[in-house]
Amino acid sequence: MAESGNLVLYRKYRPKDFDEVVGQEHVVRALANALKLNRVAHAYLFSGPRGVGKTTIARIIAKSLNCAGKERPCNICDSCKQFNEGRAMDLIEIDAASNRGIDEIRELREGVRTVPTQGKFKTYIIDECHQLTKDAFNALLKTLEEPPAHAVFILATTELDKVLPTVISRTQHYVFRRPGIADICARLQKIAKKEGTALDPEGARLIAFAAEGGLRDAESILGQIMAVEDKKITRADVEEVLGIPRREGVKTLFRLIAEKNIPESLKIVQEFFDQGYESAQIMKILLQYFRNAFFLKIDPALKKYVEDEMLPDEHECIAEHLGKFAAADLSRAVNLILQNMQQFKKTPIPQLPLELAVVELIAGGQQTV
Ligand SMILES: Nc1ncnc2c1ncn2[C@@H]1O[C@H](COP(=O)(O)OP(=O)(O)O)[C@@H](O)[C@H]1O
Ligand SMILES: [Mg+2]
Ligand SMILES: [Zn+2]
Repeated sequence: MAESGNLVLYRKYRPKDFDEVVGQEHVVRALANALKLNRVAHAYLFSGPRGVGKTTIARIIAKSLNCAGKERPCNICDSCKQFNEGRAMDLIEIDAASNRGIDEIRELREGVRTVPTQGKFKTYIIDECHQLTKDAFNALLKTLEEPPAHAVFILATTELDKVLPTVISRTQHYVFRRPGIADICARLQKIAKKEGTALDPEGARLIAFAAEGGLRDAESILGQIMAVEDKKITRADVEEVLGIPRREGVKTLFRLIAEKNIPESLKIVQEFFDQGYESAQIMKILLQYFRNAFFLKIDPALKKYVEDEMLPDEHECIAEHLGKFAAADLSRAVNLILQNMQQFKKTPIPQLPLELAVVELIAGGQQTV
């Protein structure tokens, strides 16, 4: 049930026009302008992480090229409707990851010369194009050398380093970014509102953290949580559904380390393990605490580079205890946690790396002046 919930959200809310796309301003500006000026290229390459809008923008271009309205895309003409409903004949999507594209590229080569069925343009979206076989790639290259006037190719990839230079040189290349936490939160809030769900701002941030910059992932996590709780989503709901450690607990651990309280720190580590959380999950959050503290210690103006990674109450906690650390303690702490993070897989006692890190953070700190 949760699964179908996920699918629905990110399909249901796929942006229908450029202005709904977040975090890719540079791409959107250039492409919307090219459409307006009738200067759309015959071949594009979209590279970037998964779930950040490559397919979405490719489909908006395809739709805009065949739109009969005044504004492109109008989203009301017959052609736009066909695109939005996924039944446009002039959009051909090829997933090179599924069977490496051999048959599809052959069909593409045969089909590309015939004129579009309904509109003026035929758009080919070739997803994960780095997975095409050598033969398929060569066939595609030949087509890219002399594309018919009615054809537009949009190649997408999550692994730019695997795309041949000859392909890159024949395409207009756009690099897609991971949208920032604020953009992801705003979009989650918008969707939650449309679904009639009250999403706590901190809950939204936790979802954004978990999605690591991917909007599709963020939306599918939201769907997963809404399958369980669809009226009001709190920070605790997000932590529970995702099975991530309570950040309140990690905050307490940070405070205890700052206060140099070894027994209580070790106790809280045990509690985390009793609840089934892993060293890696806790260390990651702890690492953020110390990195944030380190930045602030060096210069409070650096806050803007790190504040997005944490919750407001966590910043307060860091600010409150910052005076207890020297800058050297903090850089040592970051190093120490990083080193201990390498040890997870080697230890017979899973909580040991975290315990050692905690003790060394406190005891080592006392020796540093
Ligand atoms: N930049 C974005 N702005 C708004 N929504 C986005 C964006 N990127 C992804 N999404 C959401 O995630 C879904 C999948 O995005 P998609 O464009 O297919 O990602 P990919 O980069 O993997 O091709 C979209 O339907 C949309 O709901
Ligand atoms: Mg895609
Ligand atoms: Zn239209």
